Amino acid sequence: MKIGAIVLAAGKGTRMKSKYPKVLHKILNKPILGYVTDAVKELTDKKPIVVIGHGGEYIKEYFNNIYIYRTQEQQLGTGDAVKAGMDALEDEEAVLVLCGDAPMITADILNTMIEQYIKNEAKAIVLSADIDDSKGYGRIIRLNEGPFERIVEEKDATEKEKQIKEVNSGTYIFDRKLLDEALRGLTNDNSQGEYYLTDVLEMFKNNGHKVEVCKSEDNKVILGINNRVQLEEATILLKRRINEKHMMAGVTFEDSASTYISSEVILGEDVIIGPNVSITGQTIIGDDVAIGPNSIIKDSKIGKGTTILSSIILESELGENCIIGPFAYLRPDNLLGNKVKVGDFVELKKTKVGHGSKIPHHSYIGDAVVGEKVNIGAGTITCNYDGERKYQTIIEDGAFIGSNSNLVAPVVIGQEAYVGAGSTITKDVPTKSLAIGRSRQVNKDNWKKKK
Ligand code: UD1
Ligand code: CA
Repeated sequence: MKIGAIVLAAGKGTRMKSKYPKVLHKILNKPILGYVTDAVKELTDKKPIVVIGHGGEYIKEYFNNIYIYRTQEQQLGTGDAVKAGMDALEDEEAVLVLCGDAPMITADILNTMIEQYIKNEAKAIVLSADIDDSKGYGRIIRLNEGPFERIVEEKDATEKEKQIKEVNSGTYIFDRKLLDEALRGLTNDNSQGEYYLTDVLEMFKNNGHKVEVCKSEDNKVILGINNRVQLEEATILLKRRINEKHMMAGVTFEDSASTYISSEVILGEDVIIGPNVSITGQTIIGDDVAIGPNSIIKDSKIGKGTTILSSIILESELGENCIIGPFAYLRPDNLLGNKVKVGDFVELKKTKVGHGSKIPHHSYIGDAVVGEKVNIGAGTITCNYDGERKYQTIIEDGAFIGSNSNLVAPVVIGQEAYVGAGSTITKDVPTKSLAIGRSRQVNKDNWKKKK
């Protein structure tokens, strides 16, 4: 069966108190909407149709062409929003409708809904769950606690109906043709003057089409976000969900409550993660990597057996068995070979470092190519910028850079060459030679006495 998905994201999200649309607020570095569409992605190859309105330009800018967009000009209700998305469907026979602000939804529960839809030959399924504090949700009205009858919105509910704990999640699957017809006949004759999508279910039923409820045991999957307190609650739950998945797959967390790993991250076996670590973006961490407290790793690849302590690594690729930190700062675009050491207070940018090289302390190495088995002494600086342009420094295999050297780029330090400590190097250093670029020391004998 071909299934399409329409995700509703036109609402303003007033209670977020934000100039940005609600669905763009992030949880573990990913917008709320991204969680919803990721769940959909596991079920269908069709691009999700996202209905935008308030702040729609921000949504388009962020997600670009991974979605199909339709604009709901005025927010006249969920029924009207779905209507705005319908023409983007192609030959789909069924349509999933989801709320863009409910990030806890899972592919598993959507699959359960689809299975029920097919198996029972239903024409619509609504996902529900029991919630103690059902305030604000539409309540599921059943006939004698049995089959689905209708949904009543909080604002239209009687006191007795308000006592009902089973609520509408806002997630549905519909027969596409029947949905199309029903949306055309929808009215806004209710307390909010809105076109309620929920009325479609009643219309289906009245026309003799089978409508069923799929009730989730786990009520967290339906959690919607309306304010920043709920945003934090969802963050805690999603963080736990992601971290548990990694623990079950062989990763040790010393303190998972303080560890923030975004959903795309891939972690190898026997990785150990200390407290207060954040790993986000397209990051892949190899087996046996140890990540010490307070590290931040983003969009990076870390080879097997590497140890990282209290460091920041951005958009970089590290080989195997490297030792990084404490307090190293790898800005974007570094490529490190195996067994590289980047020690305390070292900043790297756009730098390639060959196998077995060491930059142990207090250095800035930028726009550089460092060969294999190079040793860079404490306090070495690549002077890569003349105020207008950036230049490259090349340090060839086996070179030794004495402490506190300035390498004024563009400059090449040849293979196995030496640079004397405290040098300012402005000319290339030939292979195997020693360069000293500092003023000679003068000792003035008995200077104190003469004074
Ligand atoms: C809706 C349901 C309610 C359910 C709840 C679950 C209806 C009438 N009610 O209520 O039964 O319990 O969701 O969270 O459907 N949206 C648009 N355009 C609009 C209105 C809404 O795109 O004109 C989007 C919102 O951005 C949001 C979603 O639809 O993503 C739900 O809208 P919201 O206003 O939160 O619906 P509720 O009144 O909470
Ligand atoms: Ca809502």
